[in-house]
Amino acid sequence: MRLLLALPALALLGAAAPSNDAAKPSPEALERGKAVYMKTCVACHQANGAGLAPVFPPLDGSEWLAQDVTLLSKIVLRGLQGPIKVKGQDYNMVMAPLADQLKDAEVADVLNYVRATWGKGGPLADEALVKAAREASKGQKQPYTAAELGVK
Ligand code: HEC
Repeated sequence: MRLLLALPALALLGAAAPSNDAAKPSPEALERGKAVYMKTCVACHQANGAGLAPVFPPLDGSEWLAQDVTLLSKIVLRGLQGPIKVKGQDYNMVMAPLADQLKDAEVADVLNYVRATWGKGGPLADEALVKAAREASKGQKQPYTAAELGVK
């Protein structure tokens, strides 16, 4: 009985699928993003995105990946400092800024990769978006706090 009731909901989900597909990175973009991840993020967030609690938070299933992609660009560019919550667990560490290490296109690729792999996808980042985020956040001398980003 349960199953039957679930069917209309599934049909609805199916109907919503095309818009999600449209925001899927191309296989080439995913490859580029993975390469950036394996070079730049893997030491802390781990190859499988699980992080290393209680020091490095996970990306896999992180509610932060559902945030606006401009906000995520700002985190990668300028860093993030705790306290923050990820999947119900408290973290109070510092992620150092990567603005000097990564080009705008690399930030876009890596964010598209992590969102497609461990988040729920969402609108794609591109070089122009990250460039604008870099410009908008250039006065940020310390890693962001959750409060500065308006994240609870
Ligand atoms: C040197 C370790 C380190 C590296 C490298 C690093 N991070 Fe982080 N990251 C952290 C820590 C620590 C936090 C949590 C900071 C805090 O407690 O506020 C964090 C938080 C985050 C968050 C928000 C919380 C979450 O788990 O979703 C995102 C998103 C994120 N990092 C993405 C990235 C991406 C993408 C890269 C590579 C481009 C990267 N990080 C590289 C250590 C790192």
